[in-house]
Amino acid sequence: MSSRSSYEEREGLLAENDRFDDPFDKELTTQPSDEDGWPRSKMVKTASGFILLLILGVFARALLRSPLHVHPDLSFSGDYIRSNGTHDFRRTVLIVSIDGLRADYLDRGLTPHLLEISKRGLRAKSMVPIFPTLTFPNHWALMTGLYAESHGIIANNFWDPQTELEFHYNKISSAWNPEFWLGEPMWETANKAGIITANLMWPGPPKTKSGSSPTYFVPWKDKVPLSAKLDQILAWIDLPFDERPQLLMAYEPSLDQAGHLTGPMSTLVNRTLAQVDLFAAALHDSLVDRNLTDIVDIVFVSDHGMTDTSHPTLIYVDDDDMLGEQGLSAVVHEDGWPAMGLRFNSKKNESYYLEKLLTSQHPHAEGFDVYTKHTMPSRWHFAHHDRIAPVWIVPKIDYALTTRKEGDVGMSKGNHGYDNNEHSMHAMFVAHGPFSAVVKDLHRSSFGAWLPWKNKGWHSTSDDTYVMDSFPNVEVYGLVARLLGTENYASHNNGTKGFWDKYF
Ligand SMILES: *[C@@H]1O[C@H](CO)[C@@H](O)[C@H](O)[C@H]1NC(C)=O
Ligand SMILES: *[C@@H]1O[C@H](CO)[C@@H](O)[C@H](O)[C@H]1NC(C)=O
Ligand SMILES: *[C@@H]1O[C@H](CO)[C@@H](O)[C@H](O)[C@H]1NC(C)=O
Ligand SMILES: *[C@@H]1O[C@H](CO)[C@@H](O)[C@H](O)[C@H]1NC(C)=O
Ligand SMILES: *[C@@H]1O[C@H](CO)[C@@H](O)[C@H](O)[C@H]1NC(C)=O
Ligand SMILES: [Zn+2]
Repeated sequence: MSSRSSYEEREGLLAENDRFDDPFDKELTTQPSDEDGWPRSKMVKTASGFILLLILGVFARALLRSPLHVHPDLSFSGDYIRSNGTHDFRRTVLIVSIDGLRADYLDRGLTPHLLEISKRGLRAKSMVPIFPTLTFPNHWALMTGLYAESHGIIANNFWDPQTELEFHYNKISSAWNPEFWLGEPMWETANKAGIITANLMWPGPPKTKSGSSPTYFVPWKDKVPLSAKLDQILAWIDLPFDERPQLLMAYEPSLDQAGHLTGPMSTLVNRTLAQVDLFAAALHDSLVDRNLTDIVDIVFVSDHGMTDTSHPTLIYVDDDDMLGEQGLSAVVHEDGWPAMGLRFNSKKNESYYLEKLLTSQHPHAEGFDVYTKHTMPSRWHFAHHDRIAPVWIVPKIDYALTTRKEGDVGMSKGNHGYDNNEHSMHAMFVAHGPFSAVVKDLHRSSFGAWLPWKNKGWHSTSDDTYVMDSFPNVEVYGLVARLLGTENYASHNNGTKGFWDKYF
């Protein structure tokens, strides 16, 4: 994929890779072995290097831990108060989602400001969405740190057998029903810790099952200009100390809408990309104007990518080499899109139709997979919930499921929802603020390269951009809890324990 080559081949990046790939690093993670056939001189060198590294490592850790030498931003969380020169602030996190910003959009030369922000801060090669790579499942994964099977929003539309209710993302009666939304969003965790929160249209309910709401809440509305969103965010930041939110979430859909309408390579996407880039710049500049860059961590994310679907190969599920017309009419609930979750009428023979799909002699059998909960790829973590239908047809990129009646009517020129391993489905992660300052400081300092933790996760390029390896979006919940100092309140989630340790 172009995204990989375009930044992996940059000279600085590879140079850094070389350094982190040295044998010292391996010594720390694997048992030294007599059988690895290294030349004696290299082993001696390595052994003495290892001892030196241990000494330096202990020394470096002591330095980092000592209250005198600790990076000022490391202790800035929780109740700690810092002045921007005129006003007191607690540490603040602003998380902004730009829907459908595919990771490699940042390489188009159309987002100079986001790149500039990432140059001063931090960027990941990409952020890996959960499956299915859809808006509501992923925005809730970002909020809760959970996979779809655990947070319950298993698609943008699905039927829940327990309540016998239909979830549909754009029907308020269902989308705002707290029963659908499982898990604990980051604003609920913050609330538990007594932190004021503000939510500007982040996809999700205004209230959770347990009755927790963000302190400030602006409900979803389409076509709200970016300038109005900027004003709202700044109005919150400029509130008096006692009323000011410390966790702000904001959402912008225009880029995803453009991607669906005209496809990821279109003029409209390029133009919208440039607009959201200006929005990011305006937001960042407003923080600079207020001398808040050492106080507010701003995290730009997206939920998934986008792929061109203007000329898909159509797979007709009501053809005889798929379900057939009878099979389709035996389906009582059809969930998801572009994948299809199927629930059959209990009077019909589900095994028969499943068998028919699995043994299909379809001429484009390479274009789709048929799964049950038992055969679903385990890396999707998409099986263990009642809401996940017993049979799923999952199309590959360049293929689309449809019926003879629907044909290609209403199909968009761009889409997502496919396998989260696909690079075109990957999302963006760019951060700037005290958090990224700590990361850069550690990296720059003379002993940075000697610190006794694995540095594989991130690299710096010659132009001083910090690029972390791709990582799953379920880690973001843990990052925000860490930044706000609310880890003791955090609920169980699917992030990796200690994932962010190496950055703090
Ligand atoms: C800007 O904020 C920092 C704390 O983050 C403070 O030390 C500094 O004095 C402020 N600068 C001005 C010009 O007020
Ligand atoms: C949008 O930008 C990309 C990357 O710069 C470019 O390849 C593509 O041709 C552009 N699309 C249009 C319609 O100009
Ligand atoms: C500190 O932040 C407040 C509130 O946003 C702002 O009004 C003020 O101008 C800022 N102070 C400085 C020195 O930028
Ligand atoms: C349902 O279909 C399966 C597979 O074709 C078949 O073995 C089974 O006998 C059928 N059951 C009924 C009740 O018809
Ligand atoms: C994800 O987290 C939830 C909540 O702790 C847990 O029940 C579930 O087993 C986890 N899933 C995986 C795959 O670890
Ligand atoms: Zn989306």
